[in-house]
Amino acid sequence: MVKSGKFSASTDFSRVKQVEAVILCVPTPLSKNREPDISFIIATGRAIAPHLVKETLVVLESTTYPGTTDEDLRMVLEQGSGMKAGIDFHLAFSPEREDPANEQSKVKLIPKVVGGYTQGCLERALALYGKAIDTLVPVSSCRAAEATKLLENIFRSVNIALVNELKLVYGAMDIDVWEVIEAAKTKPFGFMPFYPGPGLGGHCIPIDPFYLTWKAREFGQHTRFIELAGEINTRMPEHVVHRVADALNERSKAIKGSRILILGLAYKPNVDDERESPSYMLMDLLSGRGAEVEYYDPYVPVIKPTREHSHFAGKQSVDWGQTAISSFDLVLIATNHSCVNYKELGDWAQCIVDTRNAMAGIAGARVKVWKA
Ligand SMILES: NC(=O)c1ccc[n+]([C@@H]2O[C@H](COP(=O)([O-])OP(=O)(O)OC[C@H]3O[C@@H](n4cnc5c(N)ncnc54)[C@H](O)[C@@H]3O)[C@@H](O)[C@H]2O)c1
Repeated sequence: MVKSGKFSASTDFSRVKQVEAVILCVPTPLSKNREPDISFIIATGRAIAPHLVKETLVVLESTTYPGTTDEDLRMVLEQGSGMKAGIDFHLAFSPEREDPANEQSKVKLIPKVVGGYTQGCLERALALYGKAIDTLVPVSSCRAAEATKLLENIFRSVNIALVNELKLVYGAMDIDVWEVIEAAKTKPFGFMPFYPGPGLGGHCIPIDPFYLTWKAREFGQHTRFIELAGEINTRMPEHVVHRVADALNERSKAIKGSRILILGLAYKPNVDDERESPSYMLMDLLSGRGAEVEYYDPYVPVIKPTREHSHFAGKQSVDWGQTAISSFDLVLIATNHSCVNYKELGDWAQCIVDTRNAMAGIAGARVKVWKA
């Protein structure tokens, strides 16, 4: 694409003058106090505005609360350009939908929701995306499109919390929640499987729901499902640490002084994305209790500097091998990458705590596997 002249990258915002459409997809994190941080959107809007020309289409794709496009971004664009949205330039919101690590998933085939500030804005945005995406789903406003993306992510957060809670409840009854989910998912209608884990990860599901929580307060509304799901999901790493303590205790060991290997740093299998990964929380909790913590993740050979976990920057994955793996008092499976040889792990490890049911198919693991 670069060679053919169809694509070029630039940090020169004055080039906005030359294009018909500008798509923004900048990060939307939470602040330290867990409030939406839309400063990236605002800064980008400010950089674009002076160069906007008549008829240009601006589309926001970042996940955010309803009102960001037609209130916050619109104001910045109008002030900086001296033009009016819907009259002089077009404004729309269309959420990004991606399924990382799913090779069958093609952007062209994923239906795309689009909301415009006016009917004219919507039509311009549909014309743009129609060139690349097979199925478009127009909705009545930017806010409806913003709310759609939040519903999708809240749906996941709440359902993951549900199975995480059931893991504890069924665990106390000596019922294996993974077996129950496998059985339940044979129902051909009205059920969709979600799986428990060591806590929520990624830069979407643990964050986006709280964008709605914040905005809802402006309308005197409370997002109880979101808060409860957040509470259950953020408690999971503590639960895992208790299981680690139980597993070590049975071998007359304490967390303090034990060598613990976290298997998997990425927040989900087969990706190299470790943003907001619960593995970091597990590493903090265990080293805070005096364990010597290392990690193994073929997708993350070295930890890059991050805002939240700067103290781990530069730490390297251990190498896979019998001597290394058997030197740990305990291996904690936090991510079930499919490239890991779980048979070897079962043969080599002294003790395993499994938060992903990764050892389920491994016949005759030498050591006891603790599900967590
Ligand atoms: N990655 C996904 O799978 C995914 C899926 C759905 C929605 N989203 C949403 O898309 C948005 C972006 O997510 P991402 O994972 O692509 O984020 P990212 O951290 O990869 O950043 C996206 C881009 O924004 C650029 N950027 C950062 N700050 C900037 C600034 N001040 N000005 C201009 N550019 C800047 C970065 O260099 C990067 O190229 C978020 O709102 C996220 O919630 C992401």
